[in-house]
Amino acid sequence: MLLLSSLPISDNTQLVLDVAVCLVVVVVIARAYCPRSKNGLPLPPSPPNWRLMGHFLPPRNPFLTVAEWIDEYGPLITIRAGTEKVVIIGRYKAAVDIMEKRGGVLADRPPMSAGQMLTGGMTIAFARTGDRFRRMRRALHTHLQPKAAEAYQPLQMLFAKNTVLNILDDPSNFQNHVISYAVTTILTVTYGKATPTSAADPEVRAVRQLMSVFRTVLRPGAYWVDTIPWLRYLPWYGRKLKREFESNRKLFANQMNRLRHQLQSHVDVGPSFGRYLLENEHLLGLSELEMHFLSGTFFAAGSDSSAAAICTVLMAAACFPVEQAKVQAEFDAVVGRHRAPTFADQQSLPLLCAFISEALRWRPLGPNGFPHRTTKDVIWASENYCIPAGTTVLGSHWAISRDSEVYPDPDVFQPQRWINDQGRLREDLAFFVFGFGRRICPGLHLANRSVWINSVLLFWAFQLTLDPTKPLDDMGFMRVEMPHVSCPIVFTPRVSDVELRRIMHNYPEVE
Ligand code: HEM
Repeated sequence: MLLLSSLPISDNTQLVLDVAVCLVVVVVIARAYCPRSKNGLPLPPSPPNWRLMGHFLPPRNPFLTVAEWIDEYGPLITIRAGTEKVVIIGRYKAAVDIMEKRGGVLADRPPMSAGQMLTGGMTIAFARTGDRFRRMRRALHTHLQPKAAEAYQPLQMLFAKNTVLNILDDPSNFQNHVISYAVTTILTVTYGKATPTSAADPEVRAVRQLMSVFRTVLRPGAYWVDTIPWLRYLPWYGRKLKREFESNRKLFANQMNRLRHQLQSHVDVGPSFGRYLLENEHLLGLSELEMHFLSGTFFAAGSDSSAAAICTVLMAAACFPVEQAKVQAEFDAVVGRHRAPTFADQQSLPLLCAFISEALRWRPLGPNGFPHRTTKDVIWASENYCIPAGTTVLGSHWAISRDSEVYPDPDVFQPQRWINDQGRLREDLAFFVFGFGRRICPGLHLANRSVWINSVLLFWAFQLTLDPTKPLDDMGFMRVEMPHVSCPIVFTPRVSDVELRRIMHNYPEVE
């Protein structure tokens, strides 16, 4: 038998070190596997998994795997990404109880080292709770609350009318026209930029590239640095993320500096979020870099998301012609075909609102959800589970959208589920299109208006059908792969071409 004392000193030390390393590994793995929290209550159940790196989620449509786990293991599950535990919420009631009612203790984001490298720690979307988060969120709220968002309606109508005319001229490129709408609107709201912007403009391409890396960064386990945070200090690690940060820093600074010069030269640039930041710099207490990144995030977060939402509604119309026809019958009764609808018609068109709600439930954007983090233990009394403080929590938009207790026959497209017996929109039914609790999307009022005005004008102007000879990828918009989602919509005008152009050129006649 080999005795420790019989080994030479260096071998002895080596052995002790090896044993210590093994012990650390065992403790780390044991803690990662441990199904109980410190207060003795169990964590939500975990699908079986023997991989050291954690649960395997396929890179394409990981939310489908999560939904299967939720069906099998219950409304809450725990998975592991490296040594990090992640609790996923997959049912409506649990989301309300935890993400909404306990929103205060779920307002934090996990450290997300890859995200911090990409954004230099400057974007609100990845900000941990604390002083910077509060200052940024306050600035956003003041500018995006419902009254403030209403002020942008005339501009949204103007740009949505261009979507109709662009589709009339070049229907097969509808995804690019919708992207142009979204970026023109968001650039005007962010920096007061008055000229139309196209999907091919360099600043738009740069921001869309940022959003594509951003989406990868959000995937649990996508980067080693999220498991081993000190990797970020190695000069050779994550060069692409660091380069991306530098180019965005320049892009966002250029946009804001252009606006600053215009204001200094008394150019009439109109109201915008950037102008509000510059004019209230001292009150808001934001540094120059924070202002650049806050407006840059506003621009980035609001462009592709709005475009994908509009395209999802158009796709739903083409996929479900009977439901589309019901909405158009309501238009014919309320608006007629001699004028185009405006925001003033919104209250009288509940079927369209129901159609939009159903489309965004049927194919939810951001189906994986966005990571939140608990700052205290959260006990979910319904099943007596505990989510310990410091755990990453994801509300799975996809799994929640398939909750058959709240949305019976969840895979069936049924706008009627949003309408009550009196023919009005139900107030007791909701879906979390814009996320949860204290991190709910601050752009929701602006985005809702963009989706509504484009849908109303396009449904009013065109009959939308699918070209059966071409393939349809009805999950593509959820992955925000525009303008390359395979979605062959045919747009047939519902009034004559000449009449449609006349009405659009005069639009909006009334507001
Ligand atoms: C239909 C379009 C949009 C959808 C579906 C959408 C959805 C979301 C979702 C799901 C989140 C994460 C919420 C959470 O963590 O639980 C979010 C965050 C955010 N959104 Fe939106 N959004 C849209 C449009 C916009 C627009 C137009 C803007 C800006 C004007 C915007 C700005 C932001 C920002 C800044 C955040 C980060 C908030 C934070 O972390 O505190 N979004 N959005």
